[in-house]
Amino acid sequence: MKSFASDNWSGVCPEIMEALTATNNAGHIPAYGELEDPVTLEAEKKFNEVFGTSVKVFFVYNGTAANVLGVQHLMRPYQAIVSAHSSHMNEDECGAPEKISGSKIYTIESDDGKITAEDVKPFLRSVGFQHHSQPKVISISQVTEKGTVYTPDEIATLADFAHANNMYLHVDGARIANAAVALGVSFKEMITDTGVDVLSFGGTKNGLMFGEAVVFLNPVLANDFEYSRKQGMQLHSKMRYIAAQFDRYLTRDLWKQNATAANRMARLLADELVRIPQVKVSREVKANGVFVLLPESITETLQQHYYFHVWNYDVNEVRLMCSWDTTEEDVRGFIDVLKGLVGTPSKPQ
Ligand SMILES: Cc1ncc(COP(=O)(O)O)c(C=O)c1O
Repeated sequence: MKSFASDNWSGVCPEIMEALTATNNAGHIPAYGELEDPVTLEAEKKFNEVFGTSVKVFFVYNGTAANVLGVQHLMRPYQAIVSAHSSHMNEDECGAPEKISGSKIYTIESDDGKITAEDVKPFLRSVGFQHHSQPKVISISQVTEKGTVYTPDEIATLADFAHANNMYLHVDGARIANAAVALGVSFKEMITDTGVDVLSFGGTKNGLMFGEAVVFLNPVLANDFEYSRKQGMQLHSKMRYIAAQFDRYLTRDLWKQNATAANRMARLLADELVRIPQVKVSREVKANGVFVLLPESITETLQQHYYFHVWNYDVNEVRLMCSWDTTEEDVRGFIDVLKGLVGTPSKPQ
């Protein structure tokens, strides 16, 4: 069954499978990425290439850990994260950032999922007031949970603001490849040149089997992160299996190929949806997510054909995510079923 639920419902892309098999056939290789494990070294080299500078990269199992560990390493428990209320960090990590870092999250309501320096400013009133958590890390998602993307200028403005106020800028890049393709920019232009301090670099939603990377653009901030990672239970012993995937992912623009395919299908899906008067595309489509207002009466039946998540129950806004392997046939199949349902609405179940 194909679905539009999320881009992590898809399988592993063939190139990554081949890379996993190749590293599996390579015999014994030092564990934990230690003793100059050649696979891990090679992947690290690729990160330096795509970010155009010498970065510090640490592989972890998942996106939640990349966010939580990356941010907690920059903070003391009495300091706070500032993020959109809708951020994955705030809404979808089961309180892990608060538990692991001990820190509070100051949240900002944002209809499009983005935040600005102006939004963060009111939290500065807490600086120096011993009764309040001290804002320390601004965290943004790229792509956001509402499908929007920050331009490099917007990121640079936030980074400058953070630094001018003794804070850091963290980017949750679970879908960073889709954002880069949407903007037509490189990772260097989007992240290095804008002054981001730490990035959660995603791969699982764009064709990897597992594994994400915490990337420190400012190497000084990475000091001792290996201990944070181990204490955070995210040091993979067979490290080469994450490293080999990222090595291939960053070779010959595989990341771009996969993200381009996903974004293109989201565009097609949106173009088809706007032709159906009974539904409404509710947000501008920037990357690989399409948000749409559906008649509630057909939602469950449609989900039985192509599963997807309801994003906002108040207005029955659903999110349709395209993946690296979504095909035109999938999109047209979905549209056909949807058209059939709105043509002869089924009774609510
Ligand atoms: C924006 C965003 N950040 C982080 C994550 C966390 O990823 P994981 O499920 O690998 O912990 C997700 C996953 O849905 C996500 O959508």
